[in-house]
Amino acid sequence: MNNTIIAPSILSADPLNLEKDILDVEHGGADWHHVDVMDGHFVPNLTFGLPLIRGLKKVTKLPLDVHIMVSNPDEVALSYVDAGADILTFHVEAATHAHRLVQAIKAKGCKAGVAINPGTMISSVFPLLPVLDLVLVMSVNPGFGGQQFIPESTQRIKELSHEINRIGRYDSIIIEIDGGITSRNAEQVRNAGARALVAGSYVYNSDDRCQAIYGLR
Ligand code: DX5
Ligand code: ZN
Repeated sequence: MNNTIIAPSILSADPLNLEKDILDVEHGGADWHHVDVMDGHFVPNLTFGLPLIRGLKKVTKLPLDVHIMVSNPDEVALSYVDAGADILTFHVEAATHAHRLVQAIKAKGCKAGVAINPGTMISSVFPLLPVLDLVLVMSVNPGFGGQQFIPESTQRIKELSHEINRIGRYDSIIIEIDGGITSRNAEQVRNAGARALVAGSYVYNSDDRCQAIYGLR
């Protein structure tokens, strides 16, 4: 056992058996539930909204790791905090006032993260590092589960990790990696500096979810 955080993404759970599925991964050793909110505008897919966050909060004790892929995070992020998010992560590409939004999320007692797409300079998040709790590095282009891991993501984690160490925030910022994570690349991203691993299809589509979660640590 190590201190890697495993966050199965409910995007790959069975939507008609969601409660059963999330409790299944919970009993299988998951640390967080990763909840992918998509607006059909920032990304070409539409998923969950506030009612689901409120509902999840009633059936699980695990932290809700809410990743909002929306065009207008400045307007909607705080509603997701009020609905029950424990960690709220919005995209640096979408926010107009990212620094202000991080502070507003934290002022509500919620952890604040920014997500960054594979095509965005990793240094775009550097000005926010003094105030962030988490950086989510996308290792696929957001919108869908079950895509292939983009290999250059590992180097991006290293650069980010190096900068976080340089400013002395190693113990305060979690690097989370999201997209195409399996037992084949988990060790490499952990060694690069990722402490939280999102895994959707790899965990939920596995015959033995407990074993799949164990295999990522
Ligand atoms: C993609 C989402 C991911 C997705 C990961 O836009 O942010 O969280 O569910 O799914 P897998 O692990 O199947 O790539
Ligand atoms: Zn996600």
